[in-house]
Amino acid sequence: MTEVRQKMIVANWKMNGAFDMAYSLLEEVLDGTRNLDRVDIVICPPYVYLHYVAQLIAANPRVSLGAQNCSEHSAGAYTGEVSSSMLKDAGCKYVICGHSERRQYHAETDAEVARKTVATIEQHLAPITCVGETLEERQSGKTRMVVERQIDAVLERCGRELIDQVTFAYEPVWAIGTGRSATPDEAQDVHRIIRTRIGGLSERAAASCKILYGGSVTGDNAAAVLSQADVDGCLVGGASLKSAQFIEICKAAV
Ligand code: 13P
Repeated sequence: MTEVRQKMIVANWKMNGAFDMAYSLLEEVLDGTRNLDRVDIVICPPYVYLHYVAQLIAANPRVSLGAQNCSEHSAGAYTGEVSSSMLKDAGCKYVICGHSERRQYHAETDAEVARKTVATIEQHLAPITCVGETLEERQSGKTRMVVERQIDAVLERCGRELIDQVTFAYEPVWAIGTGRSATPDEAQDVHRIIRTRIGGLSERAAASCKILYGGSVTGDNAAAVLSQADVDGCLVGGASLKSAQFIEICKAAV
């Protein structure tokens, strides 16, 4: 039997926002997606707005809260860090782990990303773990190698017991914030590589794990990428800050 994976659209606000912005954006998004009950919508604001956004979305069970990062540690002398149990306290259901901006600007390694993924699961939160190659890696034919290496670190750490709790996001670094999205075929090719790799550990997880695409997704290109067999949703940056765009992307997922 083929597994039906409900599509998921995740808004990654990155380091953008303010209380009034969160209020007006969410008011419009909640209104514009009111009748879309066959898509999971996740809002990932900066840490300081988590609690506030949790209150704004509280009456909307279709919409969940996510964080953009978490510490791999559970508590202790880690100034400036936030643990997965704190994120749970703040109302989060999801945590983005290993976004390429964390890997690039905060030197997060494959192993650290894998540990964060497990720290998230241990708090009964759902990790959205990101992988993706740079432009240079793609141009030198290393896409498969890089993505498989990033995936393998997570597979190894999670093992067969935990792997089906991970949602993966393929975000080619060259497509993030550049306006140059991967073509639907390019996305599908890598999503298939990822699903096949997961299947090497667990056929069950390969069938059930969601794999999201991220990188310059807009209201105009979302439907095409979402129509691909192994694309189960989108992780949206810039367009998630514009209500009309984000609503269009959510509609394309239904
Ligand atoms: P953009 O949609 O702005 O390209 O960002 C993608 C991303 O990094 C989402 O996590």
